[in-house]
Amino acid sequence: MGEQRRVALIGGDGIGPEVTAQARRLLENLIASRGLPIDLWDLDLGADRFLLDGTTFPDDIRDEIASTCSAVLLGALGDPRVPGLEHARDILFGMRFGFDLYANIRPVRALSDDLVPLKGRGKDDVDFVVFRENTEGIYVGVGGQVRKGTADEIAINEDVNTRMGVERIIRAAFEYATSHGRGSVTMADKSNAMPQAHGLWRRVFELVASEYPSIKTQALYVDALCLYLVQDPTPFEVIVTNNLFGDIVTDLGAGLQGGLGMAASINVHAADRSRVALFEPVHGSAPPLAGKNVANPFAALLTAGALLNHLGWPDLEARIETAITACLAAGNCTTDVGGTLGTRESTDAVLAQLD
Ligand code: NAD
Ligand code: IPM
Ligand code: MN
Repeated sequence: MGEQRRVALIGGDGIGPEVTAQARRLLENLIASRGLPIDLWDLDLGADRFLLDGTTFPDDIRDEIASTCSAVLLGALGDPRVPGLEHARDILFGMRFGFDLYANIRPVRALSDDLVPLKGRGKDDVDFVVFRENTEGIYVGVGGQVRKGTADEIAINEDVNTRMGVERIIRAAFEYATSHGRGSVTMADKSNAMPQAHGLWRRVFELVASEYPSIKTQALYVDALCLYLVQDPTPFEVIVTNNLFGDIVTDLGAGLQGGLGMAASINVHAADRSRVALFEPVHGSAPPLAGKNVANPFAALLTAGALLNHLGWPDLEARIETAITACLAAGNCTTDVGGTLGTRESTDAVLAQLD
């Protein structure tokens, strides 16, 4: 079965701990039934911890994760008691940036026709993967405020794009297309309004594309991409874009696949997959749903499946998807996806399917 792996679990805030607890049950079930060599390590990080003792993401934890873990599974971060979200940025960006996880890979796949909100479209029409750049762009925190709180305030966040950063995420998208039998890659930018920063994206996209002559390519403005995705997502296979646009496009994508309760994501250093990787549902902490056993756990369960795939068990990811697909078809799911079950009970249904 191979060497022992360590997986850190961070429930986080809001519905994060609830859905992560379900993902933990799934992992425990598979560890026990298949003898997987995985140790789970629960980390107490999030708003509660921050409010208790000021801890966000300590260096020693970060270093221990980097040196001992194969993966981290994160629920969600964001709590109304911490309006500045300092802890969330420290933890989330601490891993994305700190571990140089430059590829945020977000599959957009509908598991049932009923989940697709577009008239006349079904699950076969929604099947693409977004490669979101995850270490640059507007997220780097370069900026500042002058005369804050006055009528003369100036507020700046810089959009940082490096040749190296743009090239490696575009290359990751092409490598994925090549290895997964996808025939096209779409790049989305806003080079009409931002000719300097996004002109770089256009040029590098063309350069990298020339190395993959069998892959069809198109460069779109991101506003047009959003239009086309809602009109007809069928032609899209792989989309590569910057950090901010990737965030927005993948919530739109989540809408196409049945909501945020269905959307999984992977943060990885695509060129060196032996490094620790971060797995998290696309959704946030959904504070109004927290503590009510109503949040959809499927995004977290699908994310756990992606984690198992990353660790070398792609067959288990496929089984989890099949089990969730069956639960959706039978209505054994939460209300957001057409069922009547709670968070725990819909996970029970998935575990029963797996057995
Ligand atoms: P959200 O994703 O928490 O919720 C958006 C909508 O989707 C809400 O209507 C919510 O009820 C629904 N939803 C989300 N997850 C669901 C689930 N599992 N089951 C059923 N419905 C679900 O986004 P938001 O409301 O904009 O943000 C809330 C907090 O989460 C904020 O603090 C935000 O910064 C944070 N956030 C964190 C992450 C993360 O940790 N990766 C991602 C997004 C947002
Ligand atoms: C996401 C979230 C985060 C992001 C927030 C919480 C900073 O929306 O993971 O999609 O913008 O990356
Ligand atoms: Mn988001």
